[in-house]
Amino acid sequence: MGQPASSMKGRVCLVTGGNSGIGKETAVGLARLGATVIIVSRDRVKGETALSEIKRKSESQSVDLMVADLSSMQSVHQLAQEFLAKYPKLHVLVNNAGIFLPKRMVTVDGLETTFTTNHLGHFLLTNLLLDRIKASAPSRVINITSDAHKGAEIDFDDLMGEKKFSGFKAYGQSKLANILFTYELARRLGGTGVTANCLHPGLVRTGFGKDVVGLMTFVVRVVGPFMMSPEKAARAAVYLASSPELESVTGKHFVKGKEEYSSRESFDQTTAERLWQVSAELTSLS
Ligand SMILES: NC(=O)c1ccc[n+]([C@@H]2O[C@H](COP(=O)([O-])OP(=O)(O)OC[C@H]3O[C@@H](n4cnc5c(N)ncnc54)[C@H](OP(=O)(O)O)[C@@H]3O)[C@@H](O)[C@H]2O)c1
Repeated sequence: MGQPASSMKGRVCLVTGGNSGIGKETAVGLARLGATVIIVSRDRVKGETALSEIKRKSESQSVDLMVADLSSMQSVHQLAQEFLAKYPKLHVLVNNAGIFLPKRMVTVDGLETTFTTNHLGHFLLTNLLLDRIKASAPSRVINITSDAHKGAEIDFDDLMGEKKFSGFKAYGQSKLANILFTYELARRLGGTGVTANCLHPGLVRTGFGKDVVGLMTFVVRVVGPFMMSPEKAARAAVYLASSPELESVTGKHFVKGKEEYSSRESFDQTTAERLWQVSAELTSLS
């Protein structure tokens, strides 16, 4: 991994899931570099606690909180409106919020929660903010994916897991969707000065998967001490958000800050275009 920018002064960065784990440490890293950072949290109390911690750790007061639930399309619309009304620029969007649910749950919109939170909410948010991001170019969109995308497929016949559900399948599918979305976005943004890249942060010791019990709890207990700290994992996200050497790098998948191939499925342009179409329909994106 190369160096992050020496300064992000004057840059505006929005980080979803910024109240916890990798997102929170990414916010700290960007604020330390002088950026104005807005974190998104679905819970106001958790968000305010994180906000104080980020300000203290980064020694910056240029950190703001917006409360929104990425699994609710109405909430995503409100978030976009609030952001657009308050900030005239958006240079970096880090789509980081994510969830793993062992049991099938549905959102207020009647959609499966894992796919909606991890992919659809960010798909809609990015599109609602895209004109502002383009107008702020050079600017960057960074999607946090996972190695769990490997072996996954987009099951267009059962996208919402209504016929058959498995937490691992839903999570893997959502993380593959993050990559397909990144590559398609990069294609659509060609020549605009906006880049779109994605990142697998590695195995990180966060609260992630806290809803999973049984075997996973055991695995986390055993491998926990060997997992990366969120501070270390966030370095890669800060690098992607700020490094001058990545200024014109787009449509790439990074693992802990190094460019790496993602799965064969993730390069399927027909799937990516179809996913974009279906996502636009599901989120009522005009
Ligand atoms: N940890 C790992 O080993 C690992 C590995 C590969 C990829 N990742 C990816 O890294 C990203 C960050 O995860 P993390 O490890 O930092 O876990 P984390 O500490 O649990 O952070 C996830 C964040 O997403 C937020 N979130 C979940 N559902 C939301 C919703 N509906 N609306 C708004 N925010 C929501 C959480 O809010 P609450 O605090 O309210 O739950 C939290 O702030 C995820 O996309 C995950 O898939 C993690």
